[in-house]
Amino acid sequence: MGGLGNSSILSLILLLTFFIAGSLICALLAATLSLTEGKSIAYVVESGDVSGDEFEAKTDNPVVKTASLLQEEVAILKAEFNSNFSDVDDTYDIKSPINSISDGCFPGNFNKSRCLKRIATGILQYVKQMQYVKEEFQSTLVDGIIHRTSTLQNLVKDLQKPKDRADDDKISEDILPKDSQWERKTVTKAILRSFDQFLIDAHRALRHITRTRKFGERRHQLPHELTPLN
Ligand SMILES: *[C@@H]1O[C@H](CO)[C@@H](O)[C@H](O)[C@H]1NC(C)=O
Ligand SMILES: *[C@@H]1O[C@H](CO)[C@@H](O)[C@H](O)[C@H]1NC(C)=O
Repeated sequence: MGGLGNSSILSLILLLTFFIAGSLICALLAATLSLTEGKSIAYVVESGDVSGDEFEAKTDNPVVKTASLLQEEVAILKAEFNSNFSDVDDTYDIKSPINSISDGCFPGNFNKSRCLKRIATGILQYVKQMQYVKEEFQSTLVDGIIHRTSTLQNLVKDLQKPKDRADDDKISEDILPKDSQWERKTVTKAILRSFDQFLIDAHRALRHITRTRKFGERRHQLPHELTPLN
């Protein structure tokens, strides 16, 4: 009886040990899970906040938002054209109006009024060139892009001082070649490539301009920014 009792006690102890060990492992697992879960939730919230700020900054400002949407649309149109006419080469080149440090649109040599002038002049150039694209490539995207380009044109004008605004009629128009079908396709490809690059730079510069305008007013007022008020 004693032997049976001993083995019973032994089984009980073993059972208990397993039970306790099992519970411990479970508890440990649960703790680890909740810990990592907590961490990942915190991480999501944190990164959500950061991107939320950026998203807000992007969407808050109509000119920045318009430039961003337009750039996305032009990039899609460019991709559509390139996929439909994959044999058209890059022999024709159209310079983006934002192409050198002296344009005032790049960090290090930023000049708000000069950069806005560049952007406004550039938009006028592409308003005209998009008519050329429209004749060559009847994508459903073209009319929307033309419409949004004129929206951007007006929003950029609103940021400029009246004396800085470009005179639409005084912009000299580069005559684009139209002689052969091959040439027209090459030019169309060049316009879309150039417009896309221009919008990437213009979007970045406009984001910078609208940001520094907010903070700049409080932080430091440059003498030339005060002149219109005096
Ligand atoms: C910015 O550019 C404008 C126009 O080119 C010029 O008149 C002005 O002096 C420049 N401002 C600075 C701070 O360089
Ligand atoms: C481009 O090619 C696609 C697929 O062949 C076609 O559906 C589309 O209409 C073409 N786009 C244009 C503007 O020709």
